[in-house]
Amino acid sequence: MWLITAGPTREHLDDVRFLSNASSGRMGYALAAAAREAGHEVVLVSGPVDLPAPAGVEVVRVTSASEMLRAAAGRLDDAGRCDVIAGVAAVCDFRPRVRQPGKPPKGAGPLQVELVENPDVLATLAGLRLPRGEGGARFARFTVGFALEVLGPADLDLEAAEARARDKLERKHLDAIVLNGVETLGAAVARVFWLPRKGARFELPPMTKEAVARWLVSTIEHELDE
Ligand code: C5P
Repeated sequence: MWLITAGPTREHLDDVRFLSNASSGRMGYALAAAAREAGHEVVLVSGPVDLPAPAGVEVVRVTSASEMLRAAAGRLDDAGRCDVIAGVAAVCDFRPRVRQPGKPPKGAGPLQVELVENPDVLATLAGLRLPRGEGGARFARFTVGFALEVLGPADLDLEAAEARARDKLERKHLDAIVLNGVETLGAAVARVFWLPRKGARFELPPMTKEAVARWLVSTIEHELDE
């Protein structure tokens, strides 16, 4: 089973207002569709997006980061082991400490909101291990995340961006991380680098998100076969 998170999360201040991230969900949905087309069972845990469920993919719709983690971890328990965990969601790092009911009136002057840190969905899932009796092995055979970094004009900041992405790879227990330039946010063709834990940076040729998704699926399949 391939477990994929996608889309933004929403962190509500009250029943109407929320904090969120800019994310169309297209990359995660494309990855889910490509994995399914390659014959894998796919569970897609998705924040609010305006995209239809890819054919043959089970979509679990959630709103907040906490819900995303609960839903995804619940699927891992059901499935026992999992082949791939791919964190493509743009999860909000923070949420308001309290969610007010209804829609409190605006009031005069600035609004102070206390934010608390959200769980790291991918790091939590990727760090899960089977009980010791079953060898204490990792739940997932392969874990991959996405890092959106400023690459800067003429890739001046590429080395620093790679270092930050590799730091995330370590912290989040990942086998690989996909580095994306913030500059290509929302663009049809993104600049994408594949950073495997055990290997050098590889730049993909310019291609659509759908093509990136197919490339990632075959690369991950190859890693699983090793
Ligand atoms: O730390 P940063 O947000 O740049 O890391 C990006 C990766 O971590 C993505 O794969 C994203 O899906 C995942 N992530 C997560 N939960 C968070 C923050 C990030 O799953 N709270």
